[in-house]
Amino acid sequence: MPLPRVMADDPPDAFRQQLAGSAELVPWDAATSDTSIVGLLTYGHPQVDDALLARLPQLRVVSNFGVGVDHVDLAACEARGIPVGNTPGCLDASTADMTFALLLASARLVVAGDNYAHGPEFTHYDPSCMIGSEVTGSTLGIIGLGRIGKKVAQRARGFEMKLLYHNRKRDEAAEQEFNIKYRSLDELLAESDFVALNCPLTAETKKLIGPAQFARIKPTGILINMARGPVVDHEALYEALSTNQIRGAALDVTDPEPLPRDHRLLTLPNLIITPHLGSASDRTRRRMREMTVGNLVAGLQGLPLPTRVRPNP
Ligand code: DGY
Repeated sequence: MPLPRVMADDPPDAFRQQLAGSAELVPWDAATSDTSIVGLLTYGHPQVDDALLARLPQLRVVSNFGVGVDHVDLAACEARGIPVGNTPGCLDASTADMTFALLLASARLVVAGDNYAHGPEFTHYDPSCMIGSEVTGSTLGIIGLGRIGKKVAQRARGFEMKLLYHNRKRDEAAEQEFNIKYRSLDELLAESDFVALNCPLTAETKKLIGPAQFARIKPTGILINMARGPVVDHEALYEALSTNQIRGAALDVTDPEPLPRDHRLLTLPNLIITPHLGSASDRTRRRMREMTVGNLVAGLQGLPLPTRVRPNP
C-alpha cells in the first residue's frame, strides 16, 4: 500500500524518522496542484489559505508545529471539514521563560554588556557604566493573559512585581490566583514599567501597539513582543526607540520575519531581537514534535485529533 502523501515545509530529520511508515513527506509547494496530497504538515508557518485547500480535494488534516495558527485559515478549513491540529500547553513554560529572558536582558543591558565585555574598550570596572532598570518590585503589564501569559505572571511574582493585565475578557480566577489587576489597554500602558505581549495575532490584535500606544508608555518603559510581529507597528516602534520616547524593546518575532537585513530597526542600540525562540528548548520542541505527529497521524486515519484547534466563534 502506498503511504499517504503529506506536503511539509522542510521539517527536520526527527520528523521524517517519527513518520517513517505512516506518511510520505513531499516538499512544500505553495502553488501545488498535486491532488494526491492528503495531509499538510506546517513546520515554519507557510500560509494555508482557501486557494490552497481548493487545490487539495483529498486533504484530510492540517497539523501545525506550534500553537499559533495565524498562518492557517481556520474558517476555511472548518468550512471544508478539514481538522487542524496545533500544540497547546507544552510550550507555555518555555515561552514564558523566554519572555523573562528578554525582559531581564533589556532591563539589565545584557546584550550590550556582553558585546562591551568581549571588546577592546573594556579596560577597567566602571561603576557608572551601563546602569539598567530595576526589575524587582517594578510593574509588569501583560497583554494576553492566556496560558502563556499566566506562566509569565507566575514568574513575575518571584521578582516581586506588581502585575497588571489586559484581555478581551476579564479573568477573575486569574486575578485571585496571581494577584493581578485588570486594566484597559491605555491604563496598562501608562502604568507599566514593562509591557509583555503574549496574545495571539488576530484581526483585533494586528498593530495593537502603534503611535498612540507608544505615546502612552512611560519614557522608561520597555516593550517585549513574544506574540507575533504584526501585533506591533514597526514604523511606530522605530520612531519610539530612535527618539527615546521609550527606553527599549525586545522582539522575539518581527514583521516580516526575518526583517530585511538592511531594515532600520536593526541599527538601534536599544532594541534586542531574537529569531523566534519562544518555544526553542530541547524538551519543549520534542514534545511539540510528538504532538504534531500525533495530530497528523490521527487525521490521516480519520480519527479525532488529540489537540484540534477551531476558529473563534
Ligand atoms: C508557536 O507555537 O506559535 C510558536 O510561535 C512556534 O510556531
